[in-house]
Amino acid sequence: MRSPYIWRGVMFLVVMGIGQSAAYGQPGADPSPARIEKGKKVFVKLCAGCHGAEGKGDGYKLLGADPANLTASATKKKSDAVLLNTIHEGKSSMPSWNVRLSEQDSRDVLAYVRTLSK
Ligand code: HEC
Repeated sequence: MRSPYIWRGVMFLVVMGIGQSAAYGQPGADPSPARIEKGKKVFVKLCAGCHGAEGKGDGYKLLGADPANLTASATKKKSDAVLLNTIHEGKSSMPSWNVRLSEQDSRDVLAYVRTLSK
């Protein structure tokens, strides 16, 4: 028997899914301290090696581009969207990770990076 209720259920899930992806990470929303704390953990684990513990770009250097000084005004001026893209996708000698950071981890780590330049 084919029940129309199944399709209602599917539609419900689809709509919820779209709603969620639109709702999360609203631009301009202040990241909570918990998110920043989480971002710090990601940073120390994955980013500090190149960008330095304080994000000043003084970690080890590989061949190619120097790790960006994340506290510089050049970085500060860039939009979340641009920086998130770099964090999420990588850029030149900055890796995009074997397993890419999740959207949420990228946002958390960016929230932390933003605190470094204050
Ligand atoms: C293997 C070294 C390396 C690691 C690890 C690394 N980066 Fe980078 N990162 C770079 C390099 C090199 C650049 C400069 C790329 C360029 O401009 O071509 C860069 C650029 C950036 C930028 C762009 C700055 C700007 O002004 O456009 C951001 C943001 C950034 N990194 C954040 C992170 C975060 C967050 C992590 C950890 C998840 C991380 N990086 C890990 C090497 C690294």
